Amino acid sequence: MNSSPDRGRQTVRSYKAKAVEPISLLAKPDRESALETAGYNVFNLQSKDVYMDLLTDSGTGTMSDRQWAALQQGDESYAGSRSFQRLQKSVQDVMGFEHVVPTHQGRGAENVLYGVLVSEGETVLNNTHFDTTRAHIAAQGADPVDCPLTTSASTRFNGDMDLDRARNTVDKIGHELVPVIVLTITNNSMAGQPVSIQNTRDVAAFAAEINATFVIDACRFAENAAFVKRHEDEFTDATVAEIAREQLSYADAITMSGKKDALANIGGFAAMNDRTLFERAKQRATLYEGFPTYGGLAGRDLHAMAVGLREAVTSEYVFDRIDQVAELGGLLRNAGLPVYEPFGGHAVYANANELYHHIPRSEFPGQRLVCELYREGGVRTVELGQFAFPGTDRPDFVRFALPRRTYFREHLEHVAQTARRVISAADSTVGLTVTETPGMPELRHFSARLEPVSNAVESTAD
Ligand code: F0G
Repeated sequence: MNSSPDRGRQTVRSYKAKAVEPISLLAKPDRESALETAGYNVFNLQSKDVYMDLLTDSGTGTMSDRQWAALQQGDESYAGSRSFQRLQKSVQDVMGFEHVVPTHQGRGAENVLYGVLVSEGETVLNNTHFDTTRAHIAAQGADPVDCPLTTSASTRFNGDMDLDRARNTVDKIGHELVPVIVLTITNNSMAGQPVSIQNTRDVAAFAAEINATFVIDACRFAENAAFVKRHEDEFTDATVAEIAREQLSYADAITMSGKKDALANIGGFAAMNDRTLFERAKQRATLYEGFPTYGGLAGRDLHAMAVGLREAVTSEYVFDRIDQVAELGGLLRNAGLPVYEPFGGHAVYANANELYHHIPRSEFPGQRLVCELYREGGVRTVELGQFAFPGTDRPDFVRFALPRRTYFREHLEHVAQTARRVISAADSTVGLTVTETPGMPELRHFSARLEPVSNAVESTAD
C-alpha cells in the first residue's frame, strides 16, 4: 500500500539515460522546404527532419535496461515459446486474465476479438471509439456508437461513458443487437481523459443486464490507474497495481497495444478468462496473426512486453509519466496556447479553433497549427479534428503525445517556446486546402496533400 498523502506525486525523475539517439534541428528554410515537399502533411515528413516527435506515444518510447536484456532472452520457437509463457504470466499477474492471444499490435487484437464477437447489422457502444476500433467494428458490418460524457457534465473523469446515452441507444435498437460494450481507458479520442472505477462498475453492470460482452481497451490502463489513485477517493490507499487489476477485473475481455502501457516498441494481445471465447479468438488469430504462441511477433518482442507490463504499474514509473504530460500542458498553457484541461495521461490537446478563430473549419485550423509547430520549431504533432475525422463535431484538436521516458524538461521548454512563436503569428496565419486525396476517405489524413489558401481567397471569404 502506498499511503502517501500526495497520492503518488514524484518529486524526482525515476530514470536516467543509458543510450541516447542524436537529433538535430534543421534550419528554418530547410524545415519550410521539407514541409512543402511533404504537402503540408507531417505524416509525409522524414523523421530525420523532425526535431521533437510528438506525433504519437505508440511504440516510440524508451525501453528500460531490463527490457533490452529481455530481448536477448527471446525464445524464437514457432510453438510453445518461453517468451510467450513469460508474457502470459505477466498478463495473469498484472491484468488478471488467464488466457492471452498475442497479436502484432493493438489493432490486430481488435480484429481477432471483434471478428468473433460482432456480426453484421449489430451495434457496439464505446465511451469513444479510437479510430482503429471504429474501423474494425465497421469492417464487421456493425455500427460503432460513441457515448462520451457531454462537456457540461465535466468531472475529473471526463473519459467516462454516459450511461444514459448508452441506455437510450439500447432502448432504441433493442438489446439483442448490442453484443459488445467497450470502455477505452484512458479515452484517447476524448483528450486522453481517464475513466473512473465507479463508471467501470456501472458499465459492467449494464453490459451484464443486456447480456453483452464487456470489453476494456486497455492500451493506457496503467496511466488510467494513476488517475484513479489521485482522484477517486475509494482508492487513495491502494497501489496503482491493485487499482489496475481491480478496474480490469470487471471486463470479460481486453484488447491491448503493447506499444503503449506495455512500454514496448511493437506488439499487442487480447486476453480473457472465458475458455470458449479464447478458443474462438485463437482460431481467428491463427488466420490473421500467426500461431497463438507468437502472434505475428518475434519471441524477443513478447519478452519485452512481459517486462514492460510489470514496470508500467509501478508508481515510480507511472506518476512520473502522467506528471510529465501535465508539465508539458502547464508550459503550453503558460505560453498562451488554448489547451484542454484537465490534462490527460499521454498527451496534451490544443484547441486550434480558439487560436485561429478567423480560419473556418473547412480550412483545417488544426492542420495549420500542426504545420506551424513544425515550421517554427521542428516539433511534429498530429491533428485530430476536421482533417482526420471529417464531419466531427468535436473541436479541431492538435495532440502533443509524449513518448514514454524519452524527453527531458529542456525539450518540453523548446515546445513551449515554439508555441509562443506560433501564437504571435496567429492572426496572419491562413488556412489550408486539400489538393490530393487518396482512395479511402477514412485514411485521408495519413497521406493527403494540402497547400495554404491564398490571401486573395482568404479576403474574398471575409
Ligand atoms: N486503441 C487505442 C485507444 C489506441 O490509442 C490505439 C493506438 C489502438 C487501440 C490501436 O493500437 O496502434 O497498436 O494498433 N493509438 C495510436 C495513437 C496509434 O497514436 O494514438 P495499435
